[in-house]
Amino acid sequence: MEFEEAYVSLPEEGYTYGYVPRPVAVVCVKDNPFTVSHHTPINRNPFLYAVSVQKDNYSYQLLQQSEDFTVNFLPYEFLKEAHLIGKTHGNEVNKWELTKLKPIKGKSVESFMILGSLLIYECKKIEVLDFPDHALLLGLVVQKHYLRGKLKPKKVRYILFHGKNFYSTHIKPKRHTLK
Ligand SMILES: Cc1cc2nc3c(=O)[nH]c(=O)nc-3n(C[C@H](O)[C@H](O)[C@H](O)COP(=O)(O)O)c2cc1C
Repeated sequence: MEFEEAYVSLPEEGYTYGYVPRPVAVVCVKDNPFTVSHHTPINRNPFLYAVSVQKDNYSYQLLQQSEDFTVNFLPYEFLKEAHLIGKTHGNEVNKWELTKLKPIKGKSVESFMILGSLLIYECKKIEVLDFPDHALLLGLVVQKHYLRGKLKPKKVRYILFHGKNFYSTHIKPKRHTLK
């Protein structure tokens, strides 16, 4: 295959999602949830987690006044709710009333958590690194919760986002025999 013929090359500027699936999480800052797909673990010990936050989101304003946040991994059955949370703003609507999701108070942090999540990280805010239109929110995971009996590799079904309103979930994973 010849590179020049096979590829369309674009200049730098803006995202190209390329339909690469990314796991969706709902981050709560204080009592406001917003949907993210740009998030990642960044250190094992201590466990540090990072989220890329669009600066015109209401959550970015809330982050300035908050010491913490939570990262909630909802199962695929909650796709509609996660999508709604990612299309509405907490200073305009009450997303809990809109989705009927149940907020619960964090055990170690002030921010809310979402009942029904398969996995929840409670995080203390360490730093917010500002870039032109996004900020990198960096947190220390102080407590983790997983739904009893549900976090099995062949059972879990997370929400995967491909860009442009396309979603999927994963098929039963196979364990590779090569260690
Ligand atoms: C699937 C999906 C993924 C998203 N990923 C991000 C993300 O990684 N970072 C971000 O800041 N916003 C992301 N958004 C957009 C925010 O969730 C959206 O702007 C939301 O309305 C912000 O809510 P707020 O204004 O209450 O903070 C995503 C939205 C969707 C639907």
